[in-house]
Amino acid sequence: MELPPELRVALDEELQGLPAKKLAAVAADLSQRYRGGAPVSGGKFVQSPADATAYAAFRLPATFGAIFSAFERVRERLPEWEPRSLADVGAGPGTASWAACTVWPDLQSITFFERDQGMIALGQRLAAHAEMPALAAATWRNVELAGAWESAPHDLVVAAYLLGELPETTLQGFIQRLWAMTGGVLVLIEPGTPSGFARIRGAREHLLAGGAHVIAPCPHNAPCPMAADNWCHFSQRVARSRLHRQIKGGELSYEDEKFSYVALSRMQAAPVRGRIIRHPHIQKGHADLEICTPEGLTKISVTRRDKARFRLARDLRWGDVLPEDSD
Ligand SMILES: C[S@@+](CC[C@H](N)C(=O)[O-])C[C@H]1O[C@@H](n2cnc3c(N)ncnc32)[C@H](O)[C@@H]1O
Repeated sequence: MELPPELRVALDEELQGLPAKKLAAVAADLSQRYRGGAPVSGGKFVQSPADATAYAAFRLPATFGAIFSAFERVRERLPEWEPRSLADVGAGPGTASWAACTVWPDLQSITFFERDQGMIALGQRLAAHAEMPALAAATWRNVELAGAWESAPHDLVVAAYLLGELPETTLQGFIQRLWAMTGGVLVLIEPGTPSGFARIRGAREHLLAGGAHVIAPCPHNAPCPMAADNWCHFSQRVARSRLHRQIKGGELSYEDEKFSYVALSRMQAAPVRGRIIRHPHIQKGHADLEICTPEGLTKISVTRRDKARFRLARDLRWGDVLPEDSD
């Protein structure tokens, strides 16, 4: 997965001339803060314009990939639905909005909610490169999300890689507020770690109790069947630029971003039979799949002798829904 060309150009321009070593040092510091978990009250992960730039250099490509992938799953499940307005909450440099504009190019208005001035300024400079009028003319709201704030309803509401930065005691109220402003679909995305998934699972439970329907990834509205020592997550491969490789100190030309997500709505999508929740193991003689279904988690093994089913199974990817005509 590559970034949209205008975003690539905008980022390159932003990073041009910055000493890679200095950027790498800021990125390492920021990454250390993120690994340390939620900051103590009032503390912030992103603390300066230099942090915002480092975030864009070392995290944005991966979070873009994850968000894009989650949005694609929503589009698959609601092919007729075309959001017009988007609220990008905890927007950072606007990553989720760039992904939304790629998936739903007919978006007409975007509102960003963000507290960090450095992120806002960076997001505005990046958005100035966008061909999409909704991005270029977006509204930026400088808001402390853990405090009191209000919003008009939006068709699509997204909070990507945000929940882990909010005080845990405020999370339920915050999720409820996001839901109240959701006209169509609410998408929550977190790192694909046990704690990221725990936040997604908590939000899912809370909103299902209030009458929401899951659009993706779960093929049901039942309690999550994942065992306590396991976590539901997906993976998106993203390309790494040369600078990115330098900053991350890696040689690979790609990285696999692991993420957990849930998309909820007051609308219902057509039922599906199941979703692949692990990388399928394709062996010589059989394909092994782990699937979440409305009846719970299940594993199936399809032997090569069962030609038609094997062909189907072989083409399935982690995160896909089971085809309608599969048995
Ligand atoms: C990890 S970044 C995610 C940015 C973007 N959504 C993405 O996925 O790339 C989290 C963003 O949320 C913002 N944020 C965190 N806590 C916030 C709060 N209490 N109020 C407003 N913004 C907040 C941070 O400033 C940061 O820009």
